Amino acid sequence: MQATAIAQPNIALIKYWGKRDLALNLPAVGSISITLDALHTEVSIDLGTNLASDCLLVNGVEDADRLPRMSACLSRVIGDRRPFARIETRSNFPIAAGLASSASAFAAATVAAAAAADLDLDKASLACLAGQASGSAARSLFGGFAELENSGDTITLTALCDENAWPLKVVVAITETSPKATSSTEAMEISRQTSPFYSAWIQRQASDLATARRAIEQRDFATLAAISEHNCLKMHSVMWASRPPIVFWNSATMRCLQTVRKLQQDGCQVFFTIDAGPQIKAVCTAEDMSAVQEALSQTPGVQQIMTTGLGRAAQLVKKT
Ligand code: DP6
Repeated sequence: MQATAIAQPNIALIKYWGKRDLALNLPAVGSISITLDALHTEVSIDLGTNLASDCLLVNGVEDADRLPRMSACLSRVIGDRRPFARIETRSNFPIAAGLASSASAFAAATVAAAAAADLDLDKASLACLAGQASGSAARSLFGGFAELENSGDTITLTALCDENAWPLKVVVAITETSPKATSSTEAMEISRQTSPFYSAWIQRQASDLATARRAIEQRDFATLAAISEHNCLKMHSVMWASRPPIVFWNSATMRCLQTVRKLQQDGCQVFFTIDAGPQIKAVCTAEDMSAVQEALSQTPGVQQIMTTGLGRAAQLVKKT
């Protein structure tokens, strides 16, 4: 009746932005991500309590705002007639600041909920359930490089490359730790409804996915770098052209971007990606990691640097 799971956040190189079905939380596009190993969220779920309602503690503090989404996630996994649960989540990185904390939280919650209820679900089913809670969470069921395909009325996940098969590094430059003003769910809907670039974004995604998939297969860093930066900037252009405009960047985000350009000119194998927040994630080879860390930590406005390799799939760690 009690289970704990751990999951790592993932960042998309080819991004998910926009929903095909809001109620089922189906993405409008496929995506390709990497799971990160130094960051994690641990979720414990206890179904054996005599609670009068669900209760959620996030990093030790009761969180009524996040509770409805977490309760809905548990009900999708276990069913509506489940007992009330005590849910505890702990992350070792800033949450709701564009570091994919919802991906690791919902991936871990899905695995823990299934185990606490003694359900034997395969990885594909767990990924679909996690994806209904948060689109990107489906990808944290996989380690290394993973692809999410939006196929008909569901999603399909494929492992593209093991975390050890192409051990890239990611240097995260944190430029702001406070939670973002607009959630990705909200921002995606504003983009879908108002951005003149939205339809072009959807149309071109298949080609970006194919280019990235091939680059990963061939361990072709330069091609992966070019397509990932292009896809990231395209997603942010969709947002910037929305009404109201959605701009997650701050001046330090822009300065980090220039730092990455300078590193590239100096011959470093590095590229940037930015999600729904002001942090820069610089993906690089192990050989160039220290140069990237040093340059980003010296960039004005960077508050913190975190460096990580590629991580593993979400795991069950305890069941009693
Ligand atoms: C920019 O998975 O957080 O990080 O499904 O509404 O919970 P919901 O959205 P979420 O969106 C992630 C958006 C992104 C790109 C990506 O991770 O692919």
